[in-house]
Amino acid sequence: MYILRYLTYSKLERLDFLERLVYNGKVRGENPMSVNNEKEFHEIIKDILKIDKFDCLQNELHHGISRYHHCLRVAKGTYVITKKMHMDYERATRAALLHDFFTDEDTALYDVKEKFKIHPDIALKNASKYFLLDPKQANIIASHMFPVCKVKPKYKEAWITSFVDKGVAFYEIYRFKVSLVMGIWILFLFNMLSIQK
Ligand SMILES: [Fe+2]
Ligand SMILES: [Fe+2]
Repeated sequence: MYILRYLTYSKLERLDFLERLVYNGKVRGENPMSVNNEKEFHEIIKDILKIDKFDCLQNELHHGISRYHHCLRVAKGTYVITKKMHMDYERATRAALLHDFFTDEDTALYDVKEKFKIHPDIALKNASKYFLLDPKQANIIASHMFPVCKVKPKYKEAWITSFVDKGVAFYEIYRFKVSLVMGIWILFLFNMLSIQK
């Protein structure tokens, strides 16, 4: 009767359950980095992770995982590429981490299509409340959905975050969301068959 129990869970309990079911309780999909890079990456972003509102993203479902882990994955991808290409990697990494800094409550008034276009502006507004962003960081956040949103990436780092976000989204949907939906359907069918027996 897993499926019936699942339906009675709160949003947080559902995330916990799905994490255990699909990801086997492991920390998911962190890109392997050297110990030094891992340390530096953490130094660059550690103050952002301490913000309560940012921590709330752990409870927001995004591509079959949490929005918190999606943002971390995009930030890591941006860090690795911009550092290798000798770009402004510290500021780019911070902006990449903040690129989807919004909760479902922030976008409750919009339908799915509108949310798709408007969430970079909401993320920028939220990020600006906590941090003093320079024009490059603001552009990285506001343009990450280009060409769906109107703001065009104006900097090399913004193009990179936008590409990394798309690649990560594709990976997460394929790796997590599809398996998540299939897992739920398999559980549903399994329960239906057990009821009929
Ligand atoms: Fe986004
Ligand atoms: Fe994203």
